Amino acid sequence: MAIINNIPARDSRILSVGAHRPARVVPNSELIDRIDSSDEWIRQRTGIETRHWAGPEETVVDMAVAASKIAIKRAGLVPQDIDTVIFATITYPYQTPSASTEVAARLEIKNAAAFDIGAACAGFSYSVGLASDMVRSGSATNVLVIGGEKISDFLDLDDRGTSFIFGDGAGAVVVGPSDHVAIGPTVMGSDVQNREAIAMLPSWIDFKPGVNSAETMWPVLHQEGQKVFRWAVYEIAKVGKEIIAKSGLTPMDIDAFIPHQANERIIESLTKSMELPDSVIVARDIRTTGNTSAASIPLAMDALLAEHPELHGKNALLIGFGAGLVYAGQVVELPPVPKN
Ligand code: COA
Repeated sequence: MAIINNIPARDSRILSVGAHRPARVVPNSELIDRIDSSDEWIRQRTGIETRHWAGPEETVVDMAVAASKIAIKRAGLVPQDIDTVIFATITYPYQTPSASTEVAARLEIKNAAAFDIGAACAGFSYSVGLASDMVRSGSATNVLVIGGEKISDFLDLDDRGTSFIFGDGAGAVVVGPSDHVAIGPTVMGSDVQNREAIAMLPSWIDFKPGVNSAETMWPVLHQEGQKVFRWAVYEIAKVGKEIIAKSGLTPMDIDAFIPHQANERIIESLTKSMELPDSVIVARDIRTTGNTSAASIPLAMDALLAEHPELHGKNALLIGFGAGLVYAGQVVELPPVPKN
């Protein structure tokens, strides 16, 4: 039997979090006319009041770089200390090279492992799980994990089921070594029977020269809202319970709940179904940020820590879920309170 030496005996933790929200705030009132809706309907059905949309001059990588700089600084590191960059996104408009390599180049991070994760709104939790396992195994030491999206580029503003839901932004964390377990086991999975419930269509594979143009083929996000809602409420509650149990905890040990910010009614329902005690502080960043897919958990984490500094070092349950349908989550010890 081969014996492999030099495996570091260490655990992992989130060292810091950083966030970037584009400057432009878009209120519901700006969107309702095109979809025959109202500010009241959107607030009641989703909890969303405003969201941020990036302008044409700001790319998803610009947002990711801004969030990453903050996270790296708050970790007490410099970009050259990062040895792995993982970028969770579904809105980087190039197939290759990856968004993570563009971030690494822009931050002058040299020789780092760099790859993107395509797990939609679960992408951040998938990436934290991978980063944590890489640190624990010795494959990496300081991993920059980014969730970033510019979904406004992929919206049909006449679609009553999507135009008002999504926002832009980027959040980043640094996952590094720890002297105790500060990231629990990640539960990851999928329900591929419902693969079509959220999709970016049409696909470029359908492009036929002379039949359709680049303009008519530009993909936009579609979803079967009710199907996704039901799935999230029933299936993700079970996933949440599994994450808590796998961490050797009970709901009483959870201090904060930072789920993917898809819909405030989904967040309320999950909180009840998982029987989280009233003392748990629940992230409701969706109200002013909308659904930012892979960016939503780190953005919500940053906002929650700024609002509740007492949560530093406390247990937060993270759960992401979305297109695929895929999900992932873990319990993490929250990093220090953001200071600029
Ligand atoms: N504005 C106003 N009214 C609307 C509307 C809109 N944008 N969209 C639908 N309606 C109306 C419908 O016409 C219908 O009216 P009726 O009862 O008179 O027939 C009624 O509202 C209910 O429509 P429905 O499609 O059942 O809405 P809903 O309650 O399911 O809400 C979503 C729609 C999209 C907000 C909701 O399904 C949702 O949030 N789903 C989850 C989506 C999600 O989280 N996606 C991301 C996962 S990562």
